[in-house]
Amino acid sequence: RPRVLSGIQPTADSFHLGNYLGALRQWVKLQDTHETFYSVVDLHAITVEQDPKVLRQRTRVSAAQLLAIGIDPQRSALFVQSHVPEHAQLSWVLECQTGFGEAGRMTQFKDKSAKQGSDRSSVGLFTYPVLQAADILLYQADAVPVGEDQRQHLELTRDLAQRFNNRLGKTFVVPEPYIIKDTAKIYDLQEPTAKMSKSASNVNGIIELLEDPKRSAKKIRSAVTDTGREVKFDTENKAGVSNLLTIYSALTDRTIADLEAAYEGKGYGDLKKDLGEVFVEWVTPIQERAKSYLDDTAELDKVLAAGAERAREVASKTLARTYQRIGFLPPV
Ligand code: TYM
Repeated sequence: RPRVLSGIQPTADSFHLGNYLGALRQWVKLQDTHETFYSVVDLHAITVEQDPKVLRQRTRVSAAQLLAIGIDPQRSALFVQSHVPEHAQLSWVLECQTGFGEAGRMTQFKDKSAKQGSDRSSVGLFTYPVLQAADILLYQADAVPVGEDQRQHLELTRDLAQRFNNRLGKTFVVPEPYIIKDTAKIYDLQEPTAKMSKSASNVNGIIELLEDPKRSAKKIRSAVTDTGREVKFDTENKAGVSNLLTIYSALTDRTIADLEAAYEGKGYGDLKKDLGEVFVEWVTPIQERAKSYLDDTAELDKVLAAGAERAREVASKTLARTYQRIGFLPPV
């Protein structure tokens, strides 16, 4: 079976609908066809300041949400990144293969460090994409399911894998991004030309999986749309409506054309009201399952420990091979 690796940061109290539709939904589906490794990437989270207690809590909440949406720990190795020390170890080796300018060109780094000011940005924020490359290359992943915003990081990962292979002999599989075009970028409900993001300035623009579903339905009903009436998919002139159609289509597996036909002669209000209901119905059982995983953290921690053990079996082999290629003297 081909391999898949992906990760998500435990940096919010809840995942949002962009995370789910852009990436996590694919994580679940790929379990049927691939050998899957999924990580809650806490090492990445600390590239910006975190409160220790909050980070620990969010790491568990993240894992619980992944189980709740259908990540099956029998089929997937579900683990916390810091439980597998090989990630940090391979990252160091890859950092030494990465150009300073090359890392400096990463747009996510440029955006984040511009926001924080370069004196307040950590060196870890700069090397963040190299750690991400280590995550992927450790598992010899063939495919990496992510949203559009991760494309550049995957390009870097591919470059690093190829460079290492060319210099020191075939060591890493060169991974392909797995980005589903229709849902690769979900937009903010209040600002439908901007990506839905946990750092959004207006909380009404983002739909959280763990918030009160009534609140989500209300956010959907008050989503920003244009002044027209017709429910049509037209990203240029109807960004807001198009985003709602994308979400509606993804949650129901109905095509956009089918939805357009169904809302012919009706207004945006009907679309929003119905989508709110669709969302509530979809998210309610997910919330119940997440809650039950969080009611038994001892069991949850056991699942994560087993995931880490499986991950380490693969990761340690890749790291040993990499160390040997680089010329490190093996310990006896
Ligand atoms: P993170 O934690 O920011 O987001 C997790 C996943 O959600 C996707 N995503 C979106 N997709 C569509 N529309 C949106 N509005 C939207 N917002 C977020 C992201 O593309 C991502 O797939 N650097 C990664 C975490 C990471 C990783 C990895 C991913 C660390 N190591 C190895 C893949 C492989 C990140 O910050 O994702």
